[in-house]
Amino acid sequence: MKKITTATLRKMKQQGEKISTITAYDASFAKIFDQAGIHAILIGDSLGMVLQGQDDTLPVNIEHMAYHTQCVKRGVENTLIISDMPFMSYATTEQAYTNAAKLMQAGASMVKIEGGKWLVDTIKGLVERGIPVCAHLGLTPQSVNVFGGFKVQGREQSQANEMIEHAKLLEAAGAQLLVLECIPANLGKAISQAVSIPTIGIGAGKDTDGQILVMHDALGISCSYMPKFSRNFLIDTGDIQKAVELYISEVTNGNFPSEDHIFN
Ligand code: KIV
Repeated sequence: MKKITTATLRKMKQQGEKISTITAYDASFAKIFDQAGIHAILIGDSLGMVLQGQDDTLPVNIEHMAYHTQCVKRGVENTLIISDMPFMSYATTEQAYTNAAKLMQAGASMVKIEGGKWLVDTIKGLVERGIPVCAHLGLTPQSVNVFGGFKVQGREQSQANEMIEHAKLLEAAGAQLLVLECIPANLGKAISQAVSIPTIGIGAGKDTDGQILVMHDALGISCSYMPKFSRNFLIDTGDIQKAVELYISEVTNGNFPSEDHIFN
């Protein structure tokens, strides 16, 4: 297998090939996912919830993210490594530069930041300094207190229109990938058609260019509840390697997500 880059993912979108993505936080799982042929691994700040047992992602800091990025890097040969910038680590552009550099030096090939058009200057500055950016719209978990809970976003037409506009602005600023979380399936489709960068959905319907799941949800080992948009692939296979292969093939064939996993 060849090393996967942002150019690979862009080409996959152009050719209509689905992108499979999963979170990982350590070398052992990263190696299994890499060898199974997953296209990208995200060291998500979801580690606050699934590793640390926190209620949300807010307590996660840049040192936690850098440590787990280093761990994942040691398990990966070909997969693209994306690392989350944690809460308030990119509140100013200067903070974004300093903290993104820590994640790139820890082994990331791209950083992910949550939010809309207020990030335009940050994205431009990061890309100009050699740091590829994945944007994240919809239910952005670092804003859970603003949303008043983990709620589906973009159901109102005005909110949906605004999200499409933000997606275009983030692309124009230089974002090379866009995660869409917990939005109606028709909005996931509309945003994916409105931008030329690949979109990766989690609870965003089946028409995004790729899918991502938190590995604990995909393997049914979450210490909290199982979200509607997820599926336990381990229960169908009884083996972690086979579960990951099944996840990849179900994403590739367009069988996951099904109607059961989407929001309207
Ligand atoms: O932190 C995370 O795992 C994420 C994914 C859910 C997209 O941001």
